[in-house]
Amino acid sequence: MTAQIIDGKAFAATVREKVAAHVARLKEEHAITPGLAVVLVGEDPASQVYVRSKGKMTVEVGMTSFEHKLPAETSEADLLALIEALNADKSVHGILVQLPLPDHLDEDLVINSIAPEKDVDGFHISNVGLLGTGQKAMVPCTPLGCLMMLRDHHGSVSGLDAVVIGRSNIVGKPMAQLLLGNSCTVTITHSRTKNLADVVKRADIVVAAVGRPEMVPGDWIKPGATVIDVGINRIDAPEKGTKEDGSVKMRLVGDCHFDSCAEVAGAITPVPGGVGPMTIACLLANTVTACCRANGLAEPEGLTA
Ligand code: GUN
Repeated sequence: MTAQIIDGKAFAATVREKVAAHVARLKEEHAITPGLAVVLVGEDPASQVYVRSKGKMTVEVGMTSFEHKLPAETSEADLLALIEALNADKSVHGILVQLPLPDHLDEDLVINSIAPEKDVDGFHISNVGLLGTGQKAMVPCTPLGCLMMLRDHHGSVSGLDAVVIGRSNIVGKPMAQLLLGNSCTVTITHSRTKNLADVVKRADIVVAAVGRPEMVPGDWIKPGATVIDVGINRIDAPEKGTKEDGSVKMRLVGDCHFDSCAEVAGAITPVPGGVGPMTIACLLANTVTACCRANGLAEPEGLTA
């Protein structure tokens, strides 16, 4: 292996330390405690794990965590009423509605009912527009985490060729906007892209966010390129044996084939331990940023796009 491993777990810890230091200053100098409200509708097990983890880390950096767990059959009107109350609550600086929502709830309507300045996910249409026009926005957490790691590794990414694989609203599109805003030459690719291997091979920076296990092999990567793997895929791992119930054990893999990509790349994020830990760290960073903006205070350095 030749690539440098970009340790997202360690980097996320440094981001959380910066957030905690800023929170301490807000408390000491301004008697303000940033607050993050997380809304979970239903009992999706993966969402419950994420929400618990967000709440725990919010408290660890000194912020207030407000958790609202609603039953799966909650009506749209009740959910919108809760969001309206959180929008008006001065102790709440960030609001996150955990996705996916149950089918009877209109996700776009719900997300767009969050006050844009409290939309720490950066999913509100106003924030999408602000980011796309290079204005001050709340930036989606996963792409923000990727950008922080890229800046840390490269210093500046200006002028580099970046290829984003995947066009989702949560990762692919905002990632492309951030890279463009940082003066990369950006190509967005997707399932219909012709000659994907050739396109990826031109890139100095590859961001893979398609959700297809190990889709990108090492021979698509330009020697020395930086590979940011956003994928978190669970696949069968028969080599690890079976569980007590007789089912095959699983392992996590990214969208890139790690071993072969690491032979060619200059730097690569592992899965797990790469992009994943950065997402919650950036949620905390966005909450402290939202709190500073709400109070007309200087934004924390190094925690914004
Ligand atoms: N579900 C999976 N990832 C996310 C995320 O980043 N934000 C929200 N709100 N829900 C999610």
